Amino acid sequence: MKILITGGCGFVGSSLAKHFKTRYPSYEITVLDNLYRKGSELNIEPLEKMGITFIKGDVRFYDDLKDLDFDLLIEASAEPSVMAGKGADRRYLIDTNFNGLINCLDAALEKEAPVIFISTSRVYPMSVINSLKYIVTEDRYDVASCNTAGVSENGFTEKLSLDGARSLYGTTKLAGEMMITEYIETLGLKAIVNRSGLIAGAGQFGKTDQGVITHWAASYIYDKKLAIFGNGKQVRDILHVKDLIRLIDMQIHDIDKFAGETFNVGGGLDNSLSIRELDDLCKKHICDKKVPTKPIRELDLKYYVTDNNKIAHYGWMPEISAEETLIDIANWIKDNKEDLRWIFV
Ligand SMILES: NC(=O)c1ccc[n+]([C@@H]2O[C@H](COP(=O)([O-])OP(=O)(O)OC[C@H]3O[C@@H](n4cnc5c(N)ncnc54)[C@H](O)[C@@H]3O)[C@@H](O)[C@H]2O)c1
Repeated sequence: MKILITGGCGFVGSSLAKHFKTRYPSYEITVLDNLYRKGSELNIEPLEKMGITFIKGDVRFYDDLKDLDFDLLIEASAEPSVMAGKGADRRYLIDTNFNGLINCLDAALEKEAPVIFISTSRVYPMSVINSLKYIVTEDRYDVASCNTAGVSENGFTEKLSLDGARSLYGTTKLAGEMMITEYIETLGLKAIVNRSGLIAGAGQFGKTDQGVITHWAASYIYDKKLAIFGNGKQVRDILHVKDLIRLIDMQIHDIDKFAGETFNVGGGLDNSLSIRELDDLCKKHICDKKVPTKPIRELDLKYYVTDNNKIAHYGWMPEISAEETLIDIANWIKDNKEDLRWIFV
């Protein structure tokens, strides 16, 4: 199999590339990345040493994709920050996440290659989520039982309303999903959409606005300034990247079973943490540190937990706990503390 991974020097893309090359040495893996993400360049050497081909290229330009040889494309390139839409990088966000995806779809269509798209839970509008009723405990929000479509006792299903504003980031991804549906229906593309919440694990160059588990662990390890936005009761479920990889491995080897479907894919309720709970785990596993609070940040969600029921019917459930994920990240940073200092400090 010849797999092209766009954004292949990023956290998810490089983790996928390494997994496929290790598990299936005969596969030809190519990663394309424009090295936009700080730290992504650190992945080039390890990937090349494994026999993976690196191409410096940009999904915004079709010419960078059109001559590549592949029979499966995994689109993992993005400006993945929900805050990016607020700043001058707005056009970059749209050009990469939306127009870049269209270029990937066209290149895949040309090669008759299926596409796996890594979408986001941010396609669900903020007002839909923040206006639900919550039980507020000392440490976290939990959704109160209700009859709202897409809300179950386990979290949010694919049936959650898409009606409302969701951030520019979320909109670029939803628009991309809609275009994929059109490419499937009109042009015969085969594609699978995985909507993930928070993905984490060793190898993530996390920052305040993206990769919060790594950001938190790194701030403890390097004793950096850190602040809890709002009351710290905001909850997210955490998906270890290895669990996501296990799913994508299953999907690419059984494309027809999954093609045309959209899945919510996340750590689930058992692997959900509020910021306060995350902070407590850092105190338990890393060191003691006093963390002040700050006013709530714009675009923040009170809660996002994935109901994995649909994908569970296809034989996948997350296996790695949120606590194990934090320990994995903390060990990676501690083991590479000096090499990673310039990224995190
Ligand atoms: N990490 C998460 O928590 C999370 C959650 C949901 C969805 N996602 C999605 O997963 C995918 C991968 O995210 P990630 O966490 O690995 O982010 P990342 O920033 O680590 O990786 C994205 C990669 O894309 C590259 N890139 C950016 N613009 C590009 C362009 N124009 N052309 C080519 N390459 C470009 C970056 O250099 C980077 O290496 C993204 O589509 C993101 O939206 C991530």
